[in-house]
Amino acid sequence: MKLSLGTASAPAKVILFGEHFVVYGNPAILAAINKRVTAAARTLDDSRIIITSDIGAAAEYSGSKFTLLRGGKSARTVLDPIYDAVKRCQRANKMKSGLKLDLRSEVPYGIGLGSSAASCVAAVGAVDSISGRHGRRWVCELAVKSEKMIHRNSSGADCYVSAIGGMITYSKKEGFRKLVPKRALSLVVGNTGARHSTGELVASVARFRKRNMVLFRTLAKRAEEISQKALTAIRLGDVEQLGRLMNENQLLLQNIGVTHRTNRLINTCIRAGALGAKITGAGGGGAVIALAATRKQGAMIAASIRASGCESMEVTVDMKGLIH
Ligand code: PMV
Repeated sequence: MKLSLGTASAPAKVILFGEHFVVYGNPAILAAINKRVTAAARTLDDSRIIITSDIGAAAEYSGSKFTLLRGGKSARTVLDPIYDAVKRCQRANKMKSGLKLDLRSEVPYGIGLGSSAASCVAAVGAVDSISGRHGRRWVCELAVKSEKMIHRNSSGADCYVSAIGGMITYSKKEGFRKLVPKRALSLVVGNTGARHSTGELVASVARFRKRNMVLFRTLAKRAEEISQKALTAIRLGDVEQLGRLMNENQLLLQNIGVTHRTNRLINTCIRAGALGAKITGAGGGGAVIALAATRKQGAMIAASIRASGCESMEVTVDMKGLIH
């Protein structure tokens, strides 16, 4: 049997504005970043599906049998959605052979940078490049279904921005819209080193909201105003205003109780001259993002983050999205 190869890569993401409040209908602003997950698929001459990831997880799926090849208990949480994505693509493209899929990621897992969404998008992209050759939106639709295994109520925004690239706004009412920034953004990502569970944090915000309905409504209204102003600032290229709005957004997130384990790193970014800094994604640890006025300033912020003992990455907006 002839063996076939396919590759694809898809970018990670940051949420610039609106996380958590987006769950209750507010708009969020997301950007794909120039850090990627790369997937290489090759057909096997039997029906197994083998998935390996350089985050230290690997498994073999054969019918209903699951064999962990590498990694601890949490490996399955990472690998199952990717397996689901591969199966969906295989089925859709009427592919008979098994597959081996190898994933390499430039971003850590579980810190809010959308590595699972990018993995699902890249996985479908790689398998599709052997068997189908569909467009990005098709790939995205399949990936969203698999990503929902991680976070049932996921909006799909992570997969969407990863597949399409660039910047987008998302709200439940208006769906996805492309956003064109006037100038390139210099962003720095800091990793608190503490993994978070999006599901648990979303649930804790739901509890907060139930106990503090009136306050939550006020905070959500303010969050919406911030996102609207941020849209204008992005379109005008007003990075000073954007930084101020990020700081305001961070305060709202602090109010709803999701900034624990991030405050020290946020202060480090601000002291190093960031125009603004906030959590990105669910919070409670995970990643923080800082906006720099220039790339030189970004390098200084990144160095301060490292000096405080945390990992850092200087990033910018990825305009390419899925490559397959
Ligand atoms: O999974 P994360 O860390 O990128 O966070 C998801 C963003 C939330 O607003 C907290 C949840 C959601 O579904 O939008």
